[in-house]
Amino acid sequence: MAEARPLDGKVAIVTGAGGGFGESYTRCLTGAGASVVMSDINAENVEAAATRLVGDGVNVLPVTADVTDPASWASVVKSGVDAFGGIDILVNNAGLMSEIPMDVPFSKLDLEWWDRVLAVNLTGPFLGIQAVVPEMKKRGGGRIVNQSSGGAFGPSGVYGVSKLGLVSLTVSMAHELARHKITVNAIAPGFTNTPAAQRSLPEGMEGMAEQIAPLGGGTPEDANGALLLLTTDAGRWITGQTLNVDGGWVMRI
Ligand SMILES: NC(=O)c1ccc[n+]([C@@H]2O[C@H](COP(=O)([O-])OP(=O)(O)OC[C@H]3O[C@@H](n4cnc5c(N)ncnc54)[C@H](O)[C@@H]3O)[C@@H](O)[C@H]2O)c1
Repeated sequence: MAEARPLDGKVAIVTGAGGGFGESYTRCLTGAGASVVMSDINAENVEAAATRLVGDGVNVLPVTADVTDPASWASVVKSGVDAFGGIDILVNNAGLMSEIPMDVPFSKLDLEWWDRVLAVNLTGPFLGIQAVVPEMKKRGGGRIVNQSSGGAFGPSGVYGVSKLGLVSLTVSMAHELARHKITVNAIAPGFTNTPAAQRSLPEGMEGMAEQIAPLGGGTPEDANGALLLLTTDAGRWITGQTLNVDGGWVMRI
């Protein structure tokens, strides 16, 4: 008989699952036994990521959805319930980062960009939590993990504003949802080697990631330990926390 895994029978939604962190988080959760609804606004990327992951005993369902749209969220949740029977875990990973213009001072950033980044990075996770809570209550509890960033704790323009907003969203939701046995935590990675992060580096700064963190640069897989802690029984008494996973770049007291 196969050995029991910590997330056997659990169902997760991972947003922004079309590559980078989202694909890696999905691989981590399926490896621990969960079935995963992989959601992304980019249909082609999420289909391709799901194809890379499919294998023996791996249940993934790719769906195209926009995290800023409540109707999209309703359909993602319904897909999970229809395909796998409910929702236990939400990983709010989708976000804009490399897309944000770097050549404009923050004090001159277009209102359109301000609105767009906050809509995807902050309103998206808020809508996601609203959409999954009724299903998590039916299952007697749940786990929510918001993807923040080390950028939340220093000057990072509208990106930092959105990611620090996520820290606050995490705390308030954790406080309110604890009575339903739903934990809400955040992971704040440092600069991590994904294609999107490489695109966001200014010219000549390619070695920056290695230099800023005492333990050196990381990959999305380096955040899997935090994800497993916050989604499995091992993390059952942890809520409202933001875990910096960044090779020691941001050391908070
Ligand atoms: N790579 C890093 O260094 C780093 C560090 C800290 C935090 N993060 C965060 O990790 C997350 C993933 O980053 P990544 O490096 O894998 O980048 P990425 O660009 O590959 O991932 C973001 C994903 O979100 C999707 N997306 C964008 N807008 C969406 C929308 N409206 N609805 C649904 N999906 C949408 C994109 O299609 C993409 O697949 C982001 O939230 C990012 O801010 C990344």
